[in-house]
Amino acid sequence: MSAAPDWPWWKTGVVYHAYVRSFADSSGDGIGDLPGLTERLDYLGEDGLGVDAIWLSPIFTSPDKDFGYDVADYCTIDPRYGSLADFDRLVQEAPRRGIRVLLDLAFNHSSSQHPWFLESRSSPDNPKRDWYIWRHARNGRPPNNWQSVFGGRAWTWEEQTRQFYHHLFLPDQPDLNWRNPEVRRALMDVVRFWLDRGVQGFRLDVFNAWYEHPQYPDNPPKLGLRAYDRQAHIYDMDQPEMFESLAELRTLLDSYPESLAVGELLGRDPYCAARYCGDDKLHMVFNFEFTESPWSPRALLNRARRWEDALRETGWPCYVLANHDLPRLVSRVRRSDPDAHARLGAALLLTLRGTPFIYYGEEIGMADIRLSRDQILDPPGLRYFPFYKGRDGCRSPMQWDDSAGAGFTTGRPWLPLHPEHRWRNVLCQLQDSHSVLSFYRSLIRLRRRSAALRQGDFLPLGTGSRGGLAYLRRFAAEQAAVVLNFTPSNLRLRLEGLPASVRWTCALSSTQESEGSLDGGQVSLEPHEVAVFLAA
Ligand code: NOJ
Repeated sequence: MSAAPDWPWWKTGVVYHAYVRSFADSSGDGIGDLPGLTERLDYLGEDGLGVDAIWLSPIFTSPDKDFGYDVADYCTIDPRYGSLADFDRLVQEAPRRGIRVLLDLAFNHSSSQHPWFLESRSSPDNPKRDWYIWRHARNGRPPNNWQSVFGGRAWTWEEQTRQFYHHLFLPDQPDLNWRNPEVRRALMDVVRFWLDRGVQGFRLDVFNAWYEHPQYPDNPPKLGLRAYDRQAHIYDMDQPEMFESLAELRTLLDSYPESLAVGELLGRDPYCAARYCGDDKLHMVFNFEFTESPWSPRALLNRARRWEDALRETGWPCYVLANHDLPRLVSRVRRSDPDAHARLGAALLLTLRGTPFIYYGEEIGMADIRLSRDQILDPPGLRYFPFYKGRDGCRSPMQWDDSAGAGFTTGRPWLPLHPEHRWRNVLCQLQDSHSVLSFYRSLIRLRRRSAALRQGDFLPLGTGSRGGLAYLRRFAAEQAAVVLNFTPSNLRLRLEGLPASVRWTCALSSTQESEGSLDGGQVSLEPHEVAVFLAA
């Protein structure tokens, strides 16, 4: 492996997003848990998939109105996932496989069952009243026009104390008042608590909504489909006070070795994301472009370029193909050869410049499950949108083997297994050197060997027209050229700008037969082939 001592792991490493509830169930109750995850660390670690960190979806005590994103105690583990001792064991075992553990912190809001909120709502004089956002009615109506992301007003009336409280999501998820210094202190204590227990960083849920404008003005209107989208969110989001709080958080993180904070931004603007990245802010902000871009090389390239441009001054890119809120890649792109597109996605994720986040199951090309309306468990939205399908589709249990419980559980899984698990599972893909999983493993290994792939500049070789995509990655004397054929046909591609007089060797190809060459700046690709060439 090329040495890169001064590059932090979060820039060079690969992060795996483990949706704990669906990953591995050790107790037989049908719900994934921490001991189950610990048992599967070998699969993820350096002798397995080879990831450098795992981000766990929320595991804290929660009434699960929003599956863990409604936290009732930030410093305890929900008994369904295990205990603090189970967590400590995970944190002990993970580094033995070269894995760091990251947690998911939902600090914009707590659960309405959190003792802080129970106190806050109990009386206007309660010392914790101001820990949440309480406002008087405006002419008998909510204090302003703000909407909830999940539909309906962002305000709920509390008869007992005759005020509204603010909630950007469900009424069961009241927004914390970040303007109150005691709240900030309590939340920083939570961060310290987990850092002291050995975690190496956090994913921050909707961090740019932490602060609201202190005067609570109406948001101005804009065009959009849902009521939430028909407002410009200039007063309930992205307030200037964010920066002081991020600096405080960063100072705390930096007092622990190699800790990371990656933020989930509400809104998709890369220039807005860039403002939150830097040495006294976040390390990274998620880039969700590939979860919604047309699946064409030109569109994907344009989006990658936009983020590259936006983050040029400060910040480091990252890529996501899917997550627990969004359809899985192969379900979204809906092509006839899902494995081929899973490989194309893997190649983009692992060879573009930036930190890759792999959503569990993507590495075997898992697809979304289909549910009837009465099978949907994900509550947000159901009340408001008649055609809402929920987000359960992408949360189905990990497919480990072809057994009745897919190796996920011996009990009844909390969500149905995908029927494909009989033939699309980890066990059979480990035995098949041409499987999607084997391709992921090879790519990650190649990335480990190549400083160009991990750290190099990104230089597109062409515009992504004609169904092919090519780019160069260059770090010091090392170079890697990546070529992808998005078409189901053979493709001959001219690589505009490929450095001349370099001898290239094919380090990896996704098709069984080819050992392509980059002769004279041209490459011939088989249908859907991905190939990576290294300068010899
Ligand atoms: C974003 C999370 O990814 C999503 O699952 C959750 O419902 C909302 N934030 C609210 O916490």
